[in-house]
Amino acid sequence: MDSVCYKTKRGMMYLGDCEQIIRKYISSDSKRRVDLIFTSPPFPLNRAKRYGNMTGEEYLEWFSGLAPLFSEILAEDGSVVIEIGNAWEKGVPVHSTLPIEALLKFKERGNLYLCQEFIHYNPSALPAPIEWVNKRRVRVKDSFTRLWWMAKTPNPRADNRQVLEHYSERMQKLIERKSYNAGRRPSEHVIGDNSFMVDNGGAIPGNVIIAANTASKGKYFAYCKEKGLDIHPARMPREVPEFFIRFLTKENGLVLDPFAGSNITGAIAEQLNRNWIGIEINEVYASGSKGRFTETND
Ligand SMILES: C[S@@+](CC[C@H](N)C(=O)[O-])C[C@H]1O[C@@H](n2cnc3c(N)ncnc32)[C@H](O)[C@@H]1O
Repeated sequence: MDSVCYKTKRGMMYLGDCEQIIRKYISSDSKRRVDLIFTSPPFPLNRAKRYGNMTGEEYLEWFSGLAPLFSEILAEDGSVVIEIGNAWEKGVPVHSTLPIEALLKFKERGNLYLCQEFIHYNPSALPAPIEWVNKRRVRVKDSFTRLWWMAKTPNPRADNRQVLEHYSERMQKLIERKSYNAGRRPSEHVIGDNSFMVDNGGAIPGNVIIAANTASKGKYFAYCKEKGLDIHPARMPREVPEFFIRFLTKENGLVLDPFAGSNITGAIAEQLNRNWIGIEINEVYASGSKGRFTETND
């Protein structure tokens, strides 16, 4: 197959336009249903720079036009998680509403439910846009991206026991105590006698994923350097795909990233014993992503 860039034990990376590849290899195969589409599409402004002068309206049309196709290849209890960062209007310190409009239109055209909104907070985000944040000091750093978890039903497969966090020290102490100050709280919550005394294996996380985007070494970087390939400029930290893959899929499930970039999604899926498909239109990025699967001590 000419468009396969590489294969691994559990996955396949395609080189090409995601719509064409999905139509050719996935939607035509009715037995191949995807449990999770997890992706970070090109942001509105990037796309304008790199793919000609696509205006906001064109971007909306293009992006939301993919929704029916994504919905078609999704398992009935599957999920779509789309990450989009913030964008600014040109020349003024004003946020663009395009990312939110794009998500809304995608949801509508895919006939999807918004199961929950998430935020990825990057504590190490650089000050940007420099003009408004550093020079004029009239805005603060943009330090989060928005993720919409959508599905064809209000009850897609999900299990928060797969994403439990370590208990805080305070919580650990509560669990170890034999008695608890039960009763009604000022917030109107009623706390039962044993509410906090059961060890459930970890704390249920909130919908803010805190992960710094600072990784700059490891086998992906070494591989790209050795082959003289550009490092992908918009890599996601591993914690983000890892959270959703664990939360929304089971082992041997199928995860698709149609805008795979450096293919962190595929790499994490492989580590978690899920099957995966990645699609990337840029040959340099697709080739470089192979470095995530090399056998090194990393
Ligand atoms: C925001 S990046 C994804 C980064 C990725 N999550 C990572 O952590 O490396 C979006 C990617 O989509 C790719 N892309 C843009 N249009 C595409 C298309 N029509 N089909 C497939 N890939 C596309 C771009 O080349 C870019 O690498």
